[in-house]
Amino acid sequence: MFAIETKNLVKEFNGLIAVNNVSLKIKYGEIFALLGPNGAGKTTIINILSTLLKPTKGMAKVNGYDVVREAYKVRESIGIVFQESILDDRLTARENLDIHGRLYHMEKEERKKRIEEVLKMVGLKHRADDIVKTFSGGMRRRLEIARGLMHNPKILFLDEPTLGLDPQTRRHIWEYIEKLREEGITVLLTTHYMEEADYLADRIAIIDKGKIVVEGSPAELKDSIGGDIIKIACKNNEKVFEKLSSKFDAKIVDEHIVLKVKEAEKVIPKIFELVGEEINSITYKEPSLEDVFIHYTGRILREEETKESDLLKIKRRMRI
Ligand SMILES: Nc1ncnc2c1ncn2[C@@H]1O[C@H](COP(=O)(O)OP(=O)(O)O)[C@@H](O)[C@H]1O
Ligand SMILES: [Mg+2]
Repeated sequence: MFAIETKNLVKEFNGLIAVNNVSLKIKYGEIFALLGPNGAGKTTIINILSTLLKPTKGMAKVNGYDVVREAYKVRESIGIVFQESILDDRLTARENLDIHGRLYHMEKEERKKRIEEVLKMVGLKHRADDIVKTFSGGMRRRLEIARGLMHNPKILFLDEPTLGLDPQTRRHIWEYIEKLREEGITVLLTTHYMEEADYLADRIAIIDKGKIVVEGSPAELKDSIGGDIIKIACKNNEKVFEKLSSKFDAKIVDEHIVLKVKEAEKVIPKIFELVGEEINSITYKEPSLEDVFIHYTGRILREEETKESDLLKIKRRMRI
């Protein structure tokens, strides 16, 4: 059984196909990322999986339960952190969590114990009794995650968990999300930040215009477009090129020898064996997820595309 499984999932909004035949299999304990630009259909998928929206066609199961026929069981199994904040600014962290526990019919003693646990998980124990209004953006996100975990869900949905946060705060949140792996929680997150998917996810599905374009681990995705790039500066380009080009895919580019290889870490020692004494310097670069996105969609996943709407959301969140 999979933690999350969908088959040919479709969602149409008045003729607009927001989700187009999406089939996913996500294992228990995995951190899985849906990576794609604004409007790709990520939130719609999360909304279907969390039973907030009904699919137009196709099947979706969460924790083994059908999202339409067994919606109640699905809701018991999941925690969700929405794209938009749903914390009450006027209440303390502890009060926000307590309300959530009550909604899930948790007993008083159980709530008390669990509040301590989840606050510890996200590093907010020392701020438990402070009003949320005084929290920074990063602290709010961590409290949202704690809220999502309050009722002990097996599966956590994180819709754009670091949207609009500065890079440093974003990294800090990643560390807390990573820790969920140790708790055995399955995480499905959506993001349009390449580095976020790259850093966190065991597996990534790149989604564009409602369709899954390609799926795999970050390393598999990068390998699939042709491996690493090694750049060598040497004393005698022609001589080195002659020796290397019979064994590798080699070119002379801008006074350097450039090799395209499968796994640079394994190839570099061989290069030293062959032409070690000729080498002045050697560097290598893995293709980034950006390269992967361009390869499969023919477009750039530009942050600018989303900047304006991000700004509106941030403003709304900060009530300015
Ligand atoms: N309730 C809705 N009614 C009509 N169109 C919608 C609705 N929700 C989403 N859409 C459209 O569906 C597409 C996918 O949206 P969404 O799932 O929010 O994308 P993402 O989360 O990847 O940015 C977009 O074109 C969006 O405008
Ligand atoms: Mg979204």
